[in-house]
Amino acid sequence: MNKTDFVTILSKKQLFLPPLSGFTDYPYRTILSRFSPPFIITEMVNAKAVIMKNRKTMEMLKIVKGEHKNGVQLLGNDPFEMAQAAEKVHSMGFDYIDINMGCTVKKVISKGQGVALMKNEQLACDIVESVSNSVDIPVTVKMRLGYCDQTRNVISLSKKLEGSGAVALTIHGRTGEKKFGPNLEYATISQVARSLSIPVVANGGITPMNALTVLKKTDAIAVMPGRSIIGNPWVITEIRCLFEQIPYLGPTLEQKKKVVLDHGSLLCDFYGERSGIVHFRKILPRYFETCQNLRGLKHDVTSINILSEVETLIDRIHETAGIIFYH
Ligand SMILES: Cc1cc2nc3c(=O)[nH]c(=O)nc-3n(C[C@H](O)[C@H](O)[C@H](O)COP(=O)(O)O)c2cc1C
Repeated sequence: MNKTDFVTILSKKQLFLPPLSGFTDYPYRTILSRFSPPFIITEMVNAKAVIMKNRKTMEMLKIVKGEHKNGVQLLGNDPFEMAQAAEKVHSMGFDYIDINMGCTVKKVISKGQGVALMKNEQLACDIVESVSNSVDIPVTVKMRLGYCDQTRNVISLSKKLEGSGAVALTIHGRTGEKKFGPNLEYATISQVARSLSIPVVANGGITPMNALTVLKKTDAIAVMPGRSIIGNPWVITEIRCLFEQIPYLGPTLEQKKKVVLDHGSLLCDFYGERSGIVHFRKILPRYFETCQNLRGLKHDVTSINILSEVETLIDRIHETAGIIFYH
């Protein structure tokens, strides 16, 4: 995909899906693809592991076929390695590459990766330049407002990253210090958007309820929902309906159960039944967050071990007079 096509799709569809480690794996990307998002991206993958062709990493890079564009997010802090990994994922068929400059996990920061790159503007730029020069697909960066509250350098750094070849930037409206806390700083995202020529995607706290407001408030080209897509691929449809000003009809309970079963089954195919179900234990309740007795569901899900037990469990979810409950 060339840069112009990338920006055209982004500006038309105004939706950019997030990388979510532990969630946007191949099985969930497959589910997401059924909702026709314009872009789908992998979880962050370690550049070194890509170069070494680590078996697990190669599995994480399985491409979901469909109409959407496939992105891959690279994590690392060595410009040469990042470029090598970029060449590899490009040859695998990915349509764009995102560089992680927002992750706040201790293990990542301690290696000078993720949000720690925001503290080293020169290195951050060298990485973007090196990756951009190594592939002819769009290179984007996902970053925060700064490493910590005292070092809010998103404006200066984003200008430099634009000069280094980034085609678009996703700005998560929190500093690294704030991790996933409340008080999103959408005004700062707007400042960034207005100071650049490349498009900015707004991220942080986005749901279908506020997507339109955030889009306007931030002067962004698109929004990137985050945790709200976990157990809720319908967010894609809901945001699309919102932007296209068409009525949105949510899924019926039966439709939802069908997606849940498919998700469970895809996880088992991908990881093997034992491991797939262990993965699914943390995901299944997310599909039914508004149900009565969610506590009971969360408790019982911990003892499922095989796919058929998923079916038995969700058979216990019912709807009466618009209220969904688990018993
Ligand atoms: C479980 C989890 C995993 C995440 N994994 C990644 C990741 O791999 N790469 C990344 O750039 N951000 C990652 N993020 C950050 C999200 O993409 C997003 O920026 C963040 O959740 C803010 O959006 P929200 O407030 O709507 O959730 C992750 C967040 C969570 C909660």
